[in-house]
Amino acid sequence: MKHQNNVIIVFANQKGGVGKSTLCLLLANYLVYWKKNVCIIDTDLQQSASMQRQIDEQQFGTEPPYAIQSFSIADTATMQQLMENAQEFDGYVLFDAPGNIKDDGLAVMLAYADAIVCPYEYETKSLVSTQTFIGVLEQLRELNPQMKARLFLVPNKVDTRIGTAAEWKAWMEHERVLAQHGTVTPRAGYRIQMRRVNTYDLLDDQKHAVYDTLRFIIQSLRTPNHEQN
Ligand SMILES: Nc1ncnc2c1ncn2[C@@H]1O[C@H](COP(=O)(O)OP(=O)(O)OP(=O)(O)O)[C@@H](O)[C@H]1O
Ligand SMILES: [Mg+2]
Repeated sequence: MKHQNNVIIVFANQKGGVGKSTLCLLLANYLVYWKKNVCIIDTDLQQSASMQRQIDEQQFGTEPPYAIQSFSIADTATMQQLMENAQEFDGYVLFDAPGNIKDDGLAVMLAYADAIVCPYEYETKSLVSTQTFIGVLEQLRELNPQMKARLFLVPNKVDTRIGTAAEWKAWMEHERVLAQHGTVTPRAGYRIQMRRVNTYDLLDDQKHAVYDTLRFIIQSLRTPNHEQN
């Protein structure tokens, strides 16, 4: 049974290095800041989130603000059980998904999601690859009418000083295609400090870069139980 406060958010894009893991941690820290219950399920073999937590536990030396559990995407039955359990959690369950979309287990994960957060960069390869990924999502929706996830498309690592006028025109055209399939959020800016993302709290510069993006996502998903931010 889905808990009344339960919200499942999956960070996914077949394109690598676009900021899935980073945004997943930032959103967890943002939600903790607003006193929400959070946990992260790290299903990426690279284990970025879990490894960062190990480093942070040594560094901070205090009880971590939320749990991060590793889970390798297995057969669909095991995945289904994980998602059933995740639905019972009183709060937000954030899934850091691996790129490989062909995995049946990933399809199960997405079927249970309330939201899919899909970061991309303003760069032609990234935008085209993201379009392909969205095409796969659309196919999954056709195969599984239960899939109800809202799709949030996050322009990440944005630096408006980079790119010619012609490039920006092309990127915006690609983005308009993306926007036909999901909600484009406010942009998340490029910040060096993103490399220092941790599993305890948001640093000031990180907050400035992603606050509007994260607030937009959470406010769009707000259930009657959620407090006004
Ligand atoms: N807004 C940002 N500004 C600057 N750097 C960023 C930003 N977001 C992410 N990065 C950097 O981009 C790199 C890739 O980010 P991340 O590991 O989160 O991507 P990913 O999509 O999870 O990658 P993978 O597909 O390998 O799992 C990291 O070095 C991270 O610090
Ligand atoms: Mg990652």
